[in-house]
Amino acid sequence: MERARFFPLCVAGKQAETADAAVFHLVPPTDHADDFAFRAGQHLVLRMPGAAEDIRRTYSICASEGGDLRVLVKRVDGGRFSNFALDHLDPGDEIEATRPIGEFGADIGASGPRRILAIAAGSGITPIISILETLLAVESESEATLLLGNRRVDSIIFRERLADLKDAYLSRFRMFHILSREHTDHPLMHGRMDEPKIDLLLDSLAPDERPDMVLLCGPAEMMDAARQALIARGVPPEHIRRELFAAAANGGKPAAKPKSPESRPDSIAGIIMDGVRRQVPVAAGMTVLEAALAAGMEAPFSCRGGVCATCRARVTEGHAEMEVNHALEPDELARGFVLTCQARPTTPEITLDFDTR
Ligand code: FES
Repeated sequence: MERARFFPLCVAGKQAETADAAVFHLVPPTDHADDFAFRAGQHLVLRMPGAAEDIRRTYSICASEGGDLRVLVKRVDGGRFSNFALDHLDPGDEIEATRPIGEFGADIGASGPRRILAIAAGSGITPIISILETLLAVESESEATLLLGNRRVDSIIFRERLADLKDAYLSRFRMFHILSREHTDHPLMHGRMDEPKIDLLLDSLAPDERPDMVLLCGPAEMMDAARQALIARGVPPEHIRRELFAAAANGGKPAAKPKSPESRPDSIAGIIMDGVRRQVPVAAGMTVLEAALAAGMEAPFSCRGGVCATCRARVTEGHAEMEVNHALEPDELARGFVLTCQARPTTPEITLDFDTR
């Protein structure tokens, strides 16, 4: 599979969701419709048309599995792609996108009845609503609880869809809105989603509950706080999955310089992509992704900030160190995966496989 390949998608619809977010309905070319089948929780990389630079951003699919391809774009202050999309990308236009990718999800239909806890904030609801809608429809005995943080009621993304979901699955889906900048009837539902608040919520709403799986999606601080609170309550770390939702950590610029460049040698990287192996020189201080792109390879990337995992590859020989990792879980690190936008070789020779998932 050519992971970095872009396809021209047609914008079939654009619907305002909140004052600063809209849902785009995208239609792939008919001869590539199968390539765009997606799992709940996956994302696409979109490329900005007409820009002098190669500007890419990652957007989660907000539709339930088997539905039309839809992504939510939220305006980011100074964000070139989001401002372009919300102000100038309209039905009838074309936008380039990769196939759906990503490992975030709940393995829907793979196991028996279970209890899922989802904790999200802001636009972090995007992959979560796709997962919850699909899960509740497919697993007829599974239950889900959602704790969702937002600033105000009018900033809640998918508020009506979530209310519909609650109505449809009254006995199996519980949902709690926590607002940080608006008064609520119950003090528990007011405040920031920090560790004490999440602890209080878990104690009050589900005192004895040990969820079978936890899905976290939102800013890093919220997810770290939730993870700490859950682990302290005895939830095994391997039952917690997370997807960072933030503007690209460094605005899509190349990775930060290494902390100790002199300790990293020039290397030769064997890079396997789409079944083909190429030898690429990696100068001291360069990331593997920079080296692959400099050599003319169509390596996959989006945020370049260690957030989206689009550039993920597996080290099969040698070693590399990452400056930043907001995307890979401990089990992926243990299996040798790195974010190539952050990985600099620490051995004279290294082999990386982009094809292994
Ligand atoms: Fe996003 Fe590397 S390009 S993590």
